[in-house]
Amino acid sequence: MEKRRLIVLILVFVVIILQFFGPERTNPPIDENKTIQAELQVPAEVMQILERSCFDCHSNATRWPWYSYIVPVSWLVVKDVNDGRRHINFSTWGDYDQKKKIKALDEMCEEVQDGSMPLKPYLWMHSDAKLSAQDIQTLCDWTESAIKTLGGAVSSDRGKEGEEHNDELEY
Ligand code: HEC
Repeated sequence: MEKRRLIVLILVFVVIILQFFGPERTNPPIDENKTIQAELQVPAEVMQILERSCFDCHSNATRWPWYSYIVPVSWLVVKDVNDGRRHINFSTWGDYDQKKKIKALDEMCEEVQDGSMPLKPYLWMHSDAKLSAQDIQTLCDWTESAIKTLGGAVSSDRGKEGEEHNDELEY
């Protein structure tokens, strides 16, 4: 009994110490001229979907939840946000070239259609971020028209289920 109590105490101590090694949560300053809404016509209903379900990982306006302050969960959350921003950051949209913008818009529709985005673990904690079939339609209709505005073409495999694509956006 004594030994078990000591082990528990040590574990509690370790978890407390680990809190000092939490990752940094950043929200880099946003240049309002470079955001996606500054560059593209984003209707209110599309903006709402992006803000509600995507911005926490794909913008510099992340709303950090309470559990993002607690190790070890914080390591996972911060990693997802940093990864997400590296793939697409709607706050630094203006830095992307034409090709990347078109690709990103195309991928956005694909990722929500096949259910890859928003990430599953995020949805466990944010049930309101779940997209309805209507949300997905709204988003895809918009990405399609935005791609046309940019002079691009929608990929032909749009709408196919479960296909693998290795064409990562990161570069
Ligand atoms: C919890 C964080 C999180 C949320 C919320 C989230 N994403 Fe992501 N997203 C990521 C991460 C991490 C990656 C990179 C790794 C991957 O592809 O799984 C990514 C990658 C992407 C990519 C690039 C895929 C590629 O092939 O490079 C697209 C497009 C995307 N997300 C769109 C969205 C859209 C649209 C939403 C909202 C409907 C959204 N994401 C919500 C974390 C998130």
